[in-house]
Amino acid sequence: MIEVSLRAFGKIQLFAMSLLLAGMAMAHLPTPLEAEEAAEAAANYQRYCALCHGNDREGYAADNAPSLRSRSLIASGGLGYLYSATYYGRPGTAMAAYGSQFGGPLEQSDLINLVRWLAEESGVEEFLSLPREPIKGDISLGAELYQRDCASCHGAEGEGIDAPALAHPMFLSSVSDAFIRYAIAYGREDTPMIGYAELLEDEELDALTAFLRSRASGWDAPEVALRSPPEAHEYILHPNGETPAFELREGRFVAAESVEQAMRLGQRMVLLDARAMSDWQRAHIPGAVPVPYYREPERFIGDMPDDGTWIIVYCACPHAASGRVVDALRAHGIPNTAIIDEGVIVWTQRGYPIQAGW
Ligand code: HEC
Ligand code: HEC
Repeated sequence: MIEVSLRAFGKIQLFAMSLLLAGMAMAHLPTPLEAEEAAEAAANYQRYCALCHGNDREGYAADNAPSLRSRSLIASGGLGYLYSATYYGRPGTAMAAYGSQFGGPLEQSDLINLVRWLAEESGVEEFLSLPREPIKGDISLGAELYQRDCASCHGAEGEGIDAPALAHPMFLSSVSDAFIRYAIAYGREDTPMIGYAELLEDEELDALTAFLRSRASGWDAPEVALRSPPEAHEYILHPNGETPAFELREGRFVAAESVEQAMRLGQRMVLLDARAMSDWQRAHIPGAVPVPYYREPERFIGDMPDDGTWIIVYCACPHAASGRVVDALRAHGIPNTAIIDEGVIVWTQRGYPIQAGW
């Protein structure tokens, strides 16, 4: 499994990772974390992951983030899969890259302990050693079965609806065919993903696996040049512009359309990006200031205007991370705050302005 996962890693990572995860690649779990390391990993989980994956790793706290405690996931994916999914994230979904190389908050050693902790907490006693060979199957049969049985949750194009994006290039580049087939056959306990082993013939499971594999478009770790965030005196966009007349749904949410219009009209406001810093680095709404959901309020509240300038917050989720930041602003008495209702994924799909980084 580890070799397969490493295909996703960039060249520099490859060497360091093979050293660090060497010895963890076997079917047995690595040596248990020391108490202090485990406590630190648990705290990192709460700070960075619980928002979407739930306080107890059960998934679905926000944004259909999958369970991180299903034995099926952890036994079949092992540390390598958990690591690459967290380090690189899934660009285009709410799952950010948490590796520091991309501007994320976690160093490699923290991340390794975090995935070791996830494995320990899951209670899995052994990782499966799944075969690495490609699985052959009838792709056109797989395409038919996919539309019949899977598209309602995973999307007609595998783009993910309320279930993970299976055609995602990063996902497909980090898993073996056997991992995919295992997930289809046995599902993921305590989640909407049932096992199809009893419902489909072996050839049908192979066909679905081969079909999903055929959607891979290749993926390589991106080259990243990190940029500096705006400074406090640059926060207000169009300082001389008029004040926008936003109407809020439930006193909290503003339509993406209204924000886009206010930008076009050169109206005065502050835009905050509540996603992980790496997401801001990758692409953000022009002029947006990164205030990741995991930053302590004391570190950003003081820099916010308190003269009634609108402060508009967004994330991918579309309300979880931005909600946390807006709650902090409101708790500190800052007026005129709102969340972009549809979130930045819909914003991007509509062709509204985006400034791309890596
Ligand atoms: C803003 C919400 C959000 C946060 C915060 C978040 N994730 Fe995720 N995560 C997601 C979503 C959504 C997916 C599924 C993406 C897709 O469609 O493939 C995901 C997928 C994953 C996967 C792949 C799971 C699988 O079943 O294949 C792993 C592993 C993961 N996240 C780990 C983490 C860890 C560890 C953290 C904290 C460092 C974290 N995530 C923080 C939203 C989030
Ligand atoms: C009722 C909705 C639903 C249907 C139908 C469904 N899935 Fe899933 N599937 C999910 C969810 C939700 C997850 C994530 C579960 C978790 O780990 O929390 C998932 C996970 C997966 C995974 C693992 C992805 C990963 O990131 O680890 C694969 C592979 C998969 N499904 C394939 C299929 C295929 C193929 C079919 C059709 C035969 C199918 N699914 C039908 C909801 C569904």
